[in-house]
Amino acid sequence: MHRAELEATAQAMVADGKGILAADESNATMTKRLEAVGVESTAESRRSFRGLMFTAEGAADHISGVIMYDETIRQATDDGTPFPEFLANEGILPGIKVDTGAKPLAGFPGETVTEGLDGLRDRLSEYRELGGRFAKWRAVIRIDSDLPTRGCIAANAQALARYAALCQEAGIVPIVEPEVLMDGGHTVDRSEEVTTAVLRAVFGELAGQRVLLEAVVLKPNMLVSGYDCPEQAGVEEVAERTLVCLRRVVPAAVPGIAFLSGGQSDERAAAHLDAMNAIGNVPWELTFSYGRALVAAPLRAWSGDTSKVADAQAAFLQRARCNAAARMGAYAESMEHELVA
Ligand code: 13P
Repeated sequence: MHRAELEATAQAMVADGKGILAADESNATMTKRLEAVGVESTAESRRSFRGLMFTAEGAADHISGVIMYDETIRQATDDGTPFPEFLANEGILPGIKVDTGAKPLAGFPGETVTEGLDGLRDRLSEYRELGGRFAKWRAVIRIDSDLPTRGCIAANAQALARYAALCQEAGIVPIVEPEVLMDGGHTVDRSEEVTTAVLRAVFGELAGQRVLLEAVVLKPNMLVSGYDCPEQAGVEEVAERTLVCLRRVVPAAVPGIAFLSGGQSDERAAAHLDAMNAIGNVPWELTFSYGRALVAAPLRAWSGDTSKVADAQAAFLQRARCNAAARMGAYAESMEHELVA
């Protein structure tokens, strides 16, 4: 195992003042996002949009790494520089989503298991050749009155651990993402109960598969009230509860935790991250690995109009700056907060 390199990569992913851009939507998801702003989804429109974010001047000041999709890691900037090469030259780590999606879990109606282990060793070796230095695998856990089941949690935790071990063997840092969905009518108490159980299972399996925790980045959900719950926990409560849960279950050897945004508003995603960093006193870095909370604003600003590229880049950089400030617990004081509010 390339231990020193892996640990250095993991630390660079969660470096001070920076976070990760998740630009790894599957073609199906990206098509939905593009069509919502009136843009036809083609390989070229997907390349154009992602390229404008990657090439925004100064992105590297706030972005430590970019997670790409299989199509994206093989694409290039307008002047023909392969995306991974361009990003690496800017000092941004190229990353790659390697799971093949959440599929129905046999025998467990309403639940999924994330697939993609078959052939993963060979795919990781190709991605490493293409410049990939870290990877992502997202498990999806849904809360409902009698969900999740133990069977679903166990299957997903096992797959995450097998993926993580294969990544490290290939010299690639695994982002371990067990996402407990924020959708639903559940309370914040229930989110805490389920997230705690899921993370316990995941860290048990990581130990069982001999994964080096110093070279893992955890990508969890925050503990929020389900979006349809009539009682919504406030920013401070979300921050405190999330840290209480993480302190209980995440070993101090893990270098950093990079949260997903999960459909929260841009403002909320930044405010929660800021509040957690303001509380601090934790053994890991706390940063972001946002998709929607970074990408939605530039996508709206661009809407497929080539004359709006500069506006879209400005919108992207503003979100990146806000979250980079939040990642240091300095969002509330930042001028950007005024601009976004
Ligand atoms: P969101 O921030 O939109 O939840 O996406 C992050 C991600 O990568 C989900 O896998």
